[in-house]
Amino acid sequence: MVFDEIIKKRNSCRCYLPEPIDDETIKQIVEAGRLAPSAKNTQPWKFVCIKTNYDNPINSKKIASIMSDYYIKNKDNPEKIKGASSLYATSKIIEDCPAIILVFTDSDYINRDKMESISDILSIGSCVEHMVLKATDLGLGTLWIADTYFIHKELAEYIQSELIKKQINFVLEKNRLVCAMALGKRGEPFYERPRKSIDDILLILNN
Ligand SMILES: Cc1cc2nc3c(=O)[nH]c(=O)nc-3n(C[C@H](O)[C@H](O)[C@H](O)COP(=O)(O)O)c2cc1C
Repeated sequence: MVFDEIIKKRNSCRCYLPEPIDDETIKQIVEAGRLAPSAKNTQPWKFVCIKTNYDNPINSKKIASIMSDYYIKNKDNPEKIKGASSLYATSKIIEDCPAIILVFTDSDYINRDKMESISDILSIGSCVEHMVLKATDLGLGTLWIADTYFIHKELAEYIQSELIKKQINFVLEKNRLVCAMALGKRGEPFYERPRKSIDDILLILNN
């Protein structure tokens, strides 16, 4: 696909076909993220890809249930659920999703100097966008997910403990889950969400 076409063909996909995504495809997508720019070239990202495979204790359904359990438990607590209205709906999308790429950072972006925090988050944004566009180029659907925010600690701890059980040495100890990307063959037609007009968002000053 040519670049403009990739941009136009990307939208948020919220329904996926139950067809597995092979490791080679996942590597191609993360490779596109790996090449993204980052402030001072810090590359403040690390990824764990989770699949639907129910033989594996770390699978999409388990991730979805951590999200939906949090929502159900806290739905009457306005403080805990503030901004989380889409958490349950997002968990349902994840449930049978063939692959989810969890995006971690070792940047302590909440406590660190403000400029560094913003730079790290911008860098991660550019990395995820590279991956989203690469997946589109490969004909796959994606959903960029920030709803993991509400259960970032639970998810990170759960994954780290499962990796330890499996004796997989992939250190996430100081890492924080920033967001996730659902990935798979599209199970719904493409539709375009409305956008602000170019005149509403751009001012060109020529003199
Ligand atoms: C940083 C970020 C976080 C997002 N988080 C979620 C999410 O948690 N759940 C969800 O359903 N959509 C999520 N979205 C998708 C947006 O709702 C979507 O991009 C927006 O409505 C525009 O629609 P489009 O992507 O189809 O063009 C997220 C998008 C971005 C960029």
